[in-house]
Order: sequence, then C-alpha cells, then structure tokens
Amino acid sequence: MPEVKIPIITYTGINQQVEHDDPDATLLDCSISNQIPHIHECGGNGLCTTCRIRVMEGHHNLNPRTVKEQEIARARKWDPSIRLACQSYAKGDVSIQRLVWTSSEINKLQLETLPEGTAEERAIAILFCDIRGFTKMTSENSSFDVAHILNRFYTVLGDPILANNGIIYQYVGDEIIGLFGVSGGMRDKTSKDAVRAALGMQYAIERLNHLELEAFDVKIKLGIGINFGKAYIGHLGHPKHKQFAVVGDPVNTASRIQSYNKIAETSILISDSVLKGMPENTIEIGKKFSSQMAGHEHQTKLYELKGFKEMDIQLELQRSLDYLLRNEEDFANKFYTRVFEKSPEVRTLFKNNMTSQGKLLTHMLGGTVYSMSRPEHLTLGLKLLGESHARYGVLEAHYPIVLSCLLETIKEELGDYYSGQLIIAWEKALTMITTEMKKYA
Ligand code: HEM
Ligand code: FES
Repeated sequence: MPEVKIPIITYTGINQQVEHDDPDATLLDCSISNQIPHIHECGGNGLCTTCRIRVMEGHHNLNPRTVKEQEIARARKWDPSIRLACQSYAKGDVSIQRLVWTSSEINKLQLETLPEGTAEERAIAILFCDIRGFTKMTSENSSFDVAHILNRFYTVLGDPILANNGIIYQYVGDEIIGLFGVSGGMRDKTSKDAVRAALGMQYAIERLNHLELEAFDVKIKLGIGINFGKAYIGHLGHPKHKQFAVVGDPVNTASRIQSYNKIAETSILISDSVLKGMPENTIEIGKKFSSQMAGHEHQTKLYELKGFKEMDIQLELQRSLDYLLRNEEDFANKFYTRVFEKSPEVRTLFKNNMTSQGKLLTHMLGGTVYSMSRPEHLTLGLKLLGESHARYGVLEAHYPIVLSCLLETIKEELGDYYSGQLIIAWEKALTMITTEMKKYA
C-alpha cells in the first residue's frame, strides 16, 4: 500500500504549520481545531466573506470554488488566489494567508459591493464629529505627546463607529466622519447604529478626559452632527488611483448640523430625517431648533440627542468592553481559575495551551460585541461555536457554570466602573450567547 501523506497547511505571517488529517474538514475547521484565530462571522456558511484567505502555494490541492463562492468572487472581482476558508478543502499541502484581522477590516468589506468609476445613490446616515479643545492641547504640549493623544482620539472615537457597523470615512483636521448603512439595510437600524455610535463617542471621550487627559490639563469636548439621506457612493478618481467617495447634499448638511452645535451649545444634534428613521419613542430628546441650512429653501429641524430612553444593551457592552479587556490575559486567567474551582472535572476537556485558549475566548467576546450589530451573522457564528463545543465534550450543564464565572469575572474587572446596568447588559448578552450554543450540546 502506498503511504498516504497527510496534507500540511502553512499559515504565512505566523509561520505555523499544522497537519490536516480530516478530508471532510474545511480550512476554517483546521484553523479552529488548531486554535489559530480566524474570523468567521457567519459560522462557515459562505455568507460573510470574513474567513477569506489568499492561497500562496498549492492552489491545485484545493477543491474548485463552490457555487456560493463563485457568486461572491464574481461580485467582488476576486482573483483566483482568494478563497473562502469555510468552503475550501485540501487534498495536499497548501500555504495560506488570512486576510481579515480586525473589525475595521470587516466593515470595509461593505465597500467591495460599490461600483467602480461611477457612484450609486444609497440611503445612509452620515456622522460628523468635531474634537474641541484640541488647539489648546497642540500649542501647550510636545509634538510627541500630541501624536500620542491624537492616536488615542482616533482609536476611542473610531471604535464606536466600527462597533456599530459603520465605516470611518475620513479624518479631516479635527474631524472624524463616519458612514452607516453603506451596503444597504433598513433605515431604522442604520439610524439607530449612527445614534448609538454618537453616544458611544460621548462616553469614550468622557472617560479619556477623566483617565488620560487630566495629566495634560486638557479637557476635550465633542460636537457631533448626524443626518440621514440619499448620497452618491462609489470609487471615484483618476483611473489609476480610485478612492472611495461619498458626495451629495445630505453629507454637506451633516457637516453643517455638526457646526450648529456651537451656536446651540449642544454636544450631539440629529436632523429630523434621523429622528423619523428611529424606532418610535426610543431616544431622549433635549432642546429643539429650526435652522436655515446653506443651500436649502426650507428650515431644517434639529434635535439635541440626550440618550436612549431605555437601556440599550449594545451601547452598554460597547462602552465597557475596552475597559474590561484592557488586560486580556488577566481576565482569562481569573475566569478559568473560577471555572476549574467550581467544576474541576471540565479541566480535562481543555487539551490545548491555556494562554492561547484565553486569547481566543477574549477575542470571541470582543468579536461578539462587534457582531451584535450584524445579528444575521451572529446566530450562525454561535451555531458553529456550539457544534464545536459539543465535539469538545461540553455538556448543557456546563453552560450555566461558565455563564456565572464570566459574570463574576466581569464584575471584578469592572472595579470602579461597575454599575448594575452594565452587569444586566452583560448578563442578557451572555445568556443569549450560551442559550444559542447550548442548543447544540
Ligand atoms: C459564553 C460561552 C462560550 C464561549 C464564547 C466560548 C468560546 C470558545 C472559543 C472561541 C473557543 C476556541 C475554539 C472554537 O472556536 O471552537 C473555545 C474552546 C473551548 N471551550 Fe469554550 N466557550 C464558551 C463556553 C464553554 C463552556 C460552557 C465550556 C465547558 C466547560 C467550554 C469549553 C471549551 C473547550 C473544552 C474548548 C476547547 C479547548 C481545547 O481544545 O483545548 N466553553 N471556547
Ligand atoms: S463566509 Fe466563511 S465564515 Fe462566513
């Protein structure tokens, strides 16, 4: 009998090689079983494209593209080296590179569906955010400090845009522009995503002021304007250097709404079209204004946004995540210590290195908070996770134990930041996750 050679999968970038001995397992399964982080938002269903890889070598050792993959590849103009890991099976050695690493990259995938060379009209929400108090800071601090703080701004103000399925469109001077609903979607969700992002930015800057900027004697204020309307979106420019661009009156109006905050002495203003798009009676409105925007014949109604009327779980999770996972290893250690104290028998289910296991868990928690803005993918992702847990030998009875240990660890890690509301939000979200996963136990 000729010896059957087990295919070797090489992950470039991390330079890791693994044996792939199950011909029925996809390349995504191979990453998961070897604890190699591989984003797969739709749980391997060929819908989200986040598991995409570039095949560097051994292309001929893979199955041809599946029908689902062919459709996606055609629509997104992929060259033949790009494959979906969840649709690819290897019968010989292959060398691959994972292409999507971060939530910002996931959001940018929305741009692939836009036309080249022309622009298409789409209904979107546009958010302009202006950073105030910045000039004082630049004149009073060293350029090294300014660069450091600038990066912190871009991170903490960009995160709420990304966590809500938005795209960071541009940084112009002291302004950040976010777009929501670029690849379509319902108006109420798009408006709510933009509103949640604005509130998240407000929280983020309050925390930055309190925790990081006091030492520089700087206090930053934000001015945010949100508008909703039909704008032209596409890849435009020189044939050799096309750029994503969005143009149209709703964009200019969003910028003017943002500026109006100075006159109105407000922090967040939304237009009538945003308010109309919101599910009824969901947000708290403060002052109301009517203003004649340049180029408009009629008055535009503006509303001061104060917050959600009822607790919004996503906002609560988003605003605590980065604080909670500021030391991922510490979080994972505390969590697993609790689990093994409460239920020592589950220790034997964990075969792999606990440090990388901890990283996967926190990566998954972060990813879940982000993918809550794409619920159609979240449930599918949890199905795959539930199925893999059944294979690890996880039983239904283990889920409540893990749930309570996660909540206890979250409470401990939140420290001063603890609030009853935050815990309720985490409890609801984790109950949803474990209930979904438990179905497959
Ligand atoms: C909130 C619920 C949970 C989440 C988000 C979660 C997350 C994860 C992730 C991301 C992995 C990496 C591998 C994969 O993607 O399949 C994993 C592996 C694993 N999880 Fe969970 N998990 C949860 C609940 C549980 C429960 C209730 C148990 C039971 C004690 C458990 C035991 C395991 C084991 C044994 C592995 C494989 C470790 C190894 O191969 O060494 N998990 N989990
Ligand atoms: S397309 Fe492969 S995981 Fe979504």
